[in-house]
This record gives sequence, structure tokens and C-alpha cells, in this order.
Amino acid sequence: MTASSPSSLKIAIVGGSGYGGGELLRLLLGHPYVEVTQVTSQRNAGKYVHTLHPNLRPWAGRPALRFTTLDELEPCDVLFLALPHGQAQENIERFAELAPRIIDLSADFRLGDAALYRRWYGHEHKAPGWLERFVYGLPEVNRARIRESAYVSGVGCNATASILALLPLVRSDLLRDDRPILVDLKVGSSEGGASASAASHHPERSHVVRSFAPTGHRHQAEVHRALGREDVHLSVTSVELVRGVLATAHAWVRPGVGERDLWRAYRSFSAGEPFVRVVHERGGIHRHPEPKLLAGTNLADVGWSLDEENGRLVALCAIDNLGKGAAGSAVQCLNLMMGWEETTGLTFPGLHPI
Ligand SMILES: NC(=O)c1ccc[n+]([C@@H]2O[C@H](COP(=O)([O-])OP(=O)(O)OC[C@H]3O[C@@H](n4cnc5c(N)ncnc54)[C@H](OP(=O)(O)O)[C@@H]3O)[C@@H](O)[C@H]2O)c1
Repeated sequence: MTASSPSSLKIAIVGGSGYGGGELLRLLLGHPYVEVTQVTSQRNAGKYVHTLHPNLRPWAGRPALRFTTLDELEPCDVLFLALPHGQAQENIERFAELAPRIIDLSADFRLGDAALYRRWYGHEHKAPGWLERFVYGLPEVNRARIRESAYVSGVGCNATASILALLPLVRSDLLRDDRPILVDLKVGSSEGGASASAASHHPERSHVVRSFAPTGHRHQAEVHRALGREDVHLSVTSVELVRGVLATAHAWVRPGVGERDLWRAYRSFSAGEPFVRVVHERGGIHRHPEPKLLAGTNLADVGWSLDEENGRLVALCAIDNLGKGAAGSAVQCLNLMMGWEETTGLTFPGLHPI
């Protein structure tokens, strides 16, 4: 297959009953160059996928897919993995026998280094030889390598929002490097996946502003690698959203940096990025990035506010955790790997009002 002659690529989704798998399925069912041939769920094998993803109930003659088990998986062109942490690394040899290309949404292959993985995840990696074979799947950081790769890891949703808020500033060298950067993240409940827990029980989760990981969040490791700075610290708070992440990064600019430099940095970054938009308005109610507006999209809205008197900068990024923070970036990577237009199947602009 060449970039100029897309044909129907056979795709299977492993872990398709979850929120990440469901979003992948929604995007891939609307993708013009792929056919989803199998979707797995161990607990729901035999059931129609729309019993778990009611938005995907077939219409207008579209086929109704049923979940299969892992054992029933057949060879395909691309395997998407949307499994809980640890499952991909345990079964990677078998998955690689099934498909020449793999895109894994989990954190299993994100860090690319066994020692780093042990430091952040607290145990030995089960397939260390595979770590170097996977490329970190954030196109804004690794586009050229993703194009050449057969194995691409997913991205952390909180890492994605943090990286995209700060990358334009780091690339333009506008930030002081003698002061740390603190990123406050407000996140929705779907980050926790489809399995219920005491914390996700409605009376406990609804209306919270709950410090979930004030320190020590594992996505920090991804942020450090992408930005090339170890002094970036994340604090994660659960708020009243189903989908969405807002990263509010607190940093200090170098002496003399003003609004014009910031405009130039964000504009030049977003000019080369099909899914990054600058939101920095003087008036109105949508002056800054707002995750509510991005539900279902692969967009990342970035913006900032500068206190010129003291050089304090607040950098912002909003995404949909299941979109740009997971399945959307994964499909963007598929497009890159296949040499297709990067936005194929990802042009939904979101809803307003919502
Ligand atoms: N949610 C997010 O915002 C988000 C963002 C970025 C990345 N991710 C990553 O994406 C991955 C999936 O997350 P999610 O939120 O979609 O999780 P989820 O909703 O809990 O879904 C997990 C899926 O894995 C399947 N599964 C669970 N245990 C399994 C096992 N032992 N063997 C085979 N299948 C198993 C489940 O199917 P059955 O139980 O029905 O068999 C389900 O389909 C995670 O690694 C997560 O870190 C998630």
C-alpha cells in the first residue's frame, strides 16, 4: 500500500469494551480507509458492541459488530491495544505475531527505557526488549519517527495537555530554567476507565474538586522526556467533567519576554500542527482554552496569560482525554504510519452549545 493509494486496512481493537477502545472504534468506524474486523472484550464476548457503546448502534445498513475474545483474534494489518496497564507488555509477542503494526494506548511502552519504567512504575518491565521498538505516539513531538515506525505507544492524557501547553515555549526558549514549572491539571471522570470503583460511585464522584495526585503522578516522566526538563511537576485534581483535561502551567519567562514573543511562539508552533489551535482572546466568554468545547475532537487548544510586571506566565492547554489524550492521537499516528493525510477521520470540530 502506498500513500497515494489507500485501500481498506484491516484493524482489530483489543480491549474494545472500555472507554479508550470505544472512542477508537467510533473514530475508526468513520475513517474512510480502514475496516474494523474484530473488537475484543473478555467479559462481553458474543454481545453486540453497541450494548456497551450505545452511540455506535448501527444505522442505515451498517454492520453490527460483536465482541470476540482474545483467543479468537485473527491476523490483521494493524492492532490497536486499549488494555489496562501491564497487559500489553505481558502479551506483546503474541500481539506482534498477529499484526505487523501495533498502536498501544497504555503506558506500557511509553517511556522507552527499562530503568525509567522501573523508577516510575515500581516494578520490572515484562518485555524490556520491546521498549526501544516503540515510538512515543505524540505527533507534535515525534512526527518523523512515527512515520517510520511499526510500533507506536499511546500518550498519557495529562501528559499530552501538559506537553502541548509548554512545548511552544520550550521550543522558543522563552522560559527561565532556574525556576521549576508547576502544572495544575483538572480532569474528568472518564480518565479512570469504564470499570466502576468506590471513587467513581456517583455520590462520591459527582461535584468533586478532589485532589487525586497532588504529587508523584506517573505522567510526569512522559512530560520530562518530551520537554527535556526534569523540573516540571504535575498536580491532578478530579472535577465535574466526564471528558476533558485542562492543564494550567505556572512558569516564569526570561527577562524581556513579552506578549509579542508569546504570540510568535504559539503561532509558529500551531502553524505546523493540524490539531493545535491558539485561543487567546481579549473579550468574550471563550478567551482561554476550555475542555468542554473539545469533547469528541482531536483538538488541543492552547493559550496563555502573562503578568508582564513580574514575568509570571500561565500557559494553558485543553483537550478531550479520550480524543487527543488517547484514541484521537492514536488514529493520527495511524495516518502518519500509513502515509495518509494526517487529519483523515479526525475532522469533527466539536459541539456548541454542549
Ligand atoms: N481513559 C482515558 O482517558 C485514557 C487516556 C489515555 C490512555 N488511556 C489508557 O488506555 C488504556 C485503556 O484505558 P480505558 O480507560 O479504556 O480502560 P477501561 O475503560 O477500563 O477498558 C479496559 C479494556 O480492557 C479490557 N480488559 C481488562 N482486563 C483485561 C485482561 N486481563 N485481558 C484482556 N482484556 C482486558 C476490558 O474488557 P473486558 O473487561 O470487557 O474484557 C476493556 O475493554 C489504559 O492503559 C489507559 O491507561 C486511557
